[in-house]
Amino acid sequence: MKVAVYPGSFDPITNGHLDIIRRAAKVYDKVVIGVLDNINKTPLFTSEERKELIDRVTSDIDNVECDVFSGLLVDFLKQKKATVIVKGLRTVADFEYEFQMALLNKALNPEFETMFMMTNSGFSYISSSMVKEVAKYNGCLEGLVPEGIIPDIKNKYIK
Ligand code: PNS
Repeated sequence: MKVAVYPGSFDPITNGHLDIIRRAAKVYDKVVIGVLDNINKTPLFTSEERKELIDRVTSDIDNVECDVFSGLLVDFLKQKKATVIVKGLRTVADFEYEFQMALLNKALNPEFETMFMMTNSGFSYISSSMVKEVAKYNGCLEGLVPEGIIPDIKNKYIK
C-alpha cells in the first residue's frame, strides 16, 4: 500500500490545497494530510481547528485522513508508514524553497521521495496568506476556499 503525506500549515485550507488532495488521492492508496503545529508561528486557526476544517471538506474522499504533527516531517511519515511526500507547486517562486526542503528531507531519510504536482492554473494565485488578507478586509472568499468554511474564516475577523 502506497501511503503519501501532504504536509502544510493549512491556515486555512484553500481550493488549491483541496485540488492537490483530490488528485493525490487518485494516485496513492492513502493520503495523510499533515497539519503542522508550528510553535514559532501564531496562526489564525489552532492546529485542531485547521484539522477540523480539513476533515469537513475532505469527508467525501475515502482514502484521505488528516492528523496534526509537530517536529520533523520525516518522523511523521514514519509514524504513518508513508514513503512519499506530496507537494503542490504554484509558481517558480515556490520552487527554490520546495527544492531546498525536498533535498533536506532526502538527506534526513533517503527512503522517502518528494513528488511535486503542478497546481491547477485556476488556483495558482491562491495562498492561505492571501485568503487571510482578503478576509481581513471583508473581501469575497468565493472560489478561494471551500464554500463550507467561509463562515469559519469570517467569524475569526468579527470583533
Ligand atoms: O504550508 P507550509 O507552511 O509551506 O508547510 C511547510 C511544511 C509544514 C511542509 C514544512 O515547514 C515542514 O515540513 N515542517 C516540519 C519540520 C521539518 O521537517 N523541517 C525540515 C524539512 S523542511
